[in-house]
Amino acid sequence: MRKISVLIGICMLAALAITILAQQAPPTDLSPVMKDVAATTNKLRMDLMSSNAADVAADAEKLQGLFRQAAGFFKAQKAQDAVDFAKANVQRAGDIMKAAKENNLDAAKAPAGDLQKSCKNCHDVHREQLPDKTFKFKP
Ligand code: HEC
Repeated sequence: MRKISVLIGICMLAALAITILAQQAPPTDLSPVMKDVAATTNKLRMDLMSSNAADVAADAEKLQGLFRQAAGFFKAQKAQDAVDFAKANVQRAGDIMKAAKENNLDAAKAPAGDLQKSCKNCHDVHREQLPDKTFKFKP
């Protein structure tokens, strides 16, 4: 009986460790992250236009998580400049979220504009379009 409980305990610890590792592992495919970035950035623009502070805060929080994942991807690819681009957007998303939570959407406009302009800077250097019109990371 005792042995079985120890075994169960070990299994539970192993399951926990796997869950934690899976959460920390960087994505191996950036495409779904980027599609989500595009959709959420569009939604952010609309929510800023309609002055919907609660939704702006939620969009910014989502973008923060997505650019954290992107930073992890670029780190694994050893593309430090892209890590820095992505981290700058984590910071901007945090600034947008803070402003929105304080119901001060005017203060969210500058970081939101910078975030929207950042796409091209990184894509010009690190994104490549394949003949089938899909994209891939370019080291
Ligand atoms: C730090 C670099 C970086 C930043 C910043 C960045 N991207 Fe990307 N993006 C990439 C790379 C690399 C790819 C190609 C990877 C892929 O699609 O597999 C990509 C691909 C995409 C794709 C194509 C996805 C697909 O597979 O069809 C979209 C859409 C996209 N990005 C939108 C955005 C938008 C919108 C922003 C700005 C809000 C942005 N990205 C900011 C690096 C970046």
